[in-house]
Amino acid sequence: MTKVLVTRKVPDRYVEQLKEFAEVKMWDEEFVPMPRKEFLEELKDADACFITLSEKVNEETLDAAPKLKIITNLAVGYDNIDIPLAEERGVTVTNTPEVLTETTAELGFTLMLATARRIVEAEQYIRDGKWKSWGPYLLAGKDVHGSKVGIFGMGDIGRAFARRLKGFEANVMYHNRSRHRIAEKELGVLYVSFDELLENSDFVICTAPLTPETKDKFDRAAFKKMRSDAIFINIGRGATVVEEDLIQALEEGDIAGAGLDVFREEPIAPDHPLLKLSNAVVLPHIGSASVVTRDRMIQLSVNNVKAVLQGHPPITPVTDK
Ligand code: GLV
Repeated sequence: MTKVLVTRKVPDRYVEQLKEFAEVKMWDEEFVPMPRKEFLEELKDADACFITLSEKVNEETLDAAPKLKIITNLAVGYDNIDIPLAEERGVTVTNTPEVLTETTAELGFTLMLATARRIVEAEQYIRDGKWKSWGPYLLAGKDVHGSKVGIFGMGDIGRAFARRLKGFEANVMYHNRSRHRIAEKELGVLYVSFDELLENSDFVICTAPLTPETKDKFDRAAFKKMRSDAIFINIGRGATVVEEDLIQALEEGDIAGAGLDVFREEPIAPDHPLLKLSNAVVLPHIGSASVVTRDRMIQLSVNNVKAVLQGHPPITPVTDK
């Protein structure tokens, strides 16, 4: 019997679709990951596994899964998976591009505005009973309209972000491993070096995936190059940032603020040093979290499993480019 392992609780309507052609083993928790030991155990006779970013796919995982044909990752990023090794073992890997682009850009934009206008701090100000009167510079923040915005990573999400910035009449520059001529033409974004991006931006937005080239890219030297009134936003991956260096930059005023949806180790604990800083806005990795988008991501993952197990090409395969 064909077996599909699903490592997180998803609605019955998706499980039903998988049950039409396979036996389904699903971990029954929505907010707690499947324990590693159980994951490896269940992989022994699995033909497909439907996983989240919580599951690491490395040699140990693939060794435990002799029958595996497809891994479908419920995310666009896939740094949790050793892609070359999966390819070597003949296991197809799929992700969820496109369906989450606009929703993730929207969250990034929300985070940028919230950090710029000190929204979380302002609400806390009222809750703490500090609001006594209007003041000329009470909780004064930074304008996004007319600002210089530097986008690090000009993929789908970077472009969706740049498109939104047009409505704010911002000057957009970007840095990417390769130039994106279409984005330059259509959105008027300017390609600059990484240093130029850091030195000139009011807002530095990281939308980049985690790769050997982007790992630890935002370190002490990078934050030192940024303007002291600049705001850093990260909706890519936490490990593009050396977190101690970011904390130091925020504490010492090398930059003015940070809005973060991703962290090196997730989840972060309530006593994480970033949560002690009033100039940091932190979110629990909710970039693609709208109901419609999550529905689309789950459906796409189901469709990928179905396609591969029924002998068709995957819809959104990831390759070791
Ligand atoms: C989320 O971080 C994703 O990669 O989809």
